[in-house]
Amino acid sequence: MDKFVIRGGNPLVGTVRISGAKNSALPCMAAAILTEEEVTLENIPQVRDIETERKLLVAMGAEVELGTGTADHRTRINFRTLSSPEAKYEIVKTMRASSLVLGPLVARAGMARVAMPGGCAIGGRPIDLHIKGLEKMGATIVQEHGYLEARAEKLKGAHIVFDKITVTGTEDLLMAAVLAEGETLMENCAREPEVCDLSALLIAMGAKIEGAGTSTIHVQGVTSLKGAQYRINPDRIEAGTFLIAGAITAGDLTVSDCNPDHLGAVISKLTEAGALIDVPGPDSVRVRVKGKLQAADISTEEYPGFPTDMQAQYMALATQSEGVSQITENIFENRFMHVQELVRMGANIKVDGRTGTVRGPAPLSAAAVMCSDLRASASLVLAALVADGESILDRVYHMDRGYERIEQKLETVGAQIRRMGNVFG
Ligand code: EPZ
Repeated sequence: MDKFVIRGGNPLVGTVRISGAKNSALPCMAAAILTEEEVTLENIPQVRDIETERKLLVAMGAEVELGTGTADHRTRINFRTLSSPEAKYEIVKTMRASSLVLGPLVARAGMARVAMPGGCAIGGRPIDLHIKGLEKMGATIVQEHGYLEARAEKLKGAHIVFDKITVTGTEDLLMAAVLAEGETLMENCAREPEVCDLSALLIAMGAKIEGAGTSTIHVQGVTSLKGAQYRINPDRIEAGTFLIAGAITAGDLTVSDCNPDHLGAVISKLTEAGALIDVPGPDSVRVRVKGKLQAADISTEEYPGFPTDMQAQYMALATQSEGVSQITENIFENRFMHVQELVRMGANIKVDGRTGTVRGPAPLSAAAVMCSDLRASASLVLAALVADGESILDRVYHMDRGYERIEQKLETVGAQIRRMGNVFG
């Protein structure tokens, strides 16, 4: 298993280029199930979850060509044949987002056999709202032996109101609705930019959708969809993670190829904490820190609120901020796996239910720490960048799921970081 060795103390200075959004790429790749023609996606990040999605789609009968060179971020997907509308447990257990194939498979093939995702490090991750929506559209769904079997001659448009805001639930049912008979009205939808990416791709394929990015989405079903070319958004969570890296190391860091409009809550919070933020252009954000960072509370909310996927990274920053920061996690029930590792490095954090109380600044000392999930890993990298000495981060495969070549990107702006162990263990 790969490890990172990071020596803290270097301010990050320079420019980092942001890759495409993993959480746009995953639903957009699944959307290719909806047509027999070729779908070409640009700006796809070279991360482990995309490779997992490739395996999933190939197992169903697709031809999937992922870009390989460092400059080639194009993915071509062709579902001329859909030989097996199934997502096996071996793959689904490694990536919950596999449930995104449920809606498109039923829409395209009239049936789907998808392993229940089960939980993961951050929570139970149920998909009951995906199931409820598909049943409203006429699917019959049986759950047995750890699999969901969904069937529908032809999905029918329906009025769906989500009990809770769910990002992949919104995406899954949007992909079911575009080929359903008649109109679908979905309310209490997720408003994440990744939903807008998927909607834009589906419209390019011939779908009739209005309202993506708002709580209410209206779909007029069509009989078939064609192939399309589409470039996905930059990854707002990668961009936010690097902005915090620039702030925590008191550097002068610019993130380029990003979309500042998707970073509102993060930029506002960093500004409140005393970071100097400039937006020099339509695709870049610059962060500097002059003097001390100040404590500032966060409470994670659905978009456009402060993203749960940035909570762990912000907590690392809070350990270096003057004062007490209250960090409340409202979206997932177990997203404090990074806390104990940060405490082992010297952070002063107490967790009570859904709130972590961080007292800072606390000097961090380098340590051997364990990554537990994607964003917790990012939090430990940020802490190691300011810790005194050399930290060893184990199980960085969690990081490789969602950050493309992060050690190279950090090295180019001055971090002392290297990967140990075989490249993809
Ligand atoms: C997406 O997960 C993202 N993943 C997550 O990013 C992100 O943290 C999350 O949205 C919230 O923003 C992808 O887009 C691939 P949800 P998703 O359904 O869709 C409950 C990362 O780090 N819920 O919006 O699975 C659920 O338990 C990952 O990149 C139900 O109860 O999250 C959670 O408490 C981690 N029933 C809340 O809703 C359902 O049927 C929000 O979950 C679905 C969800």
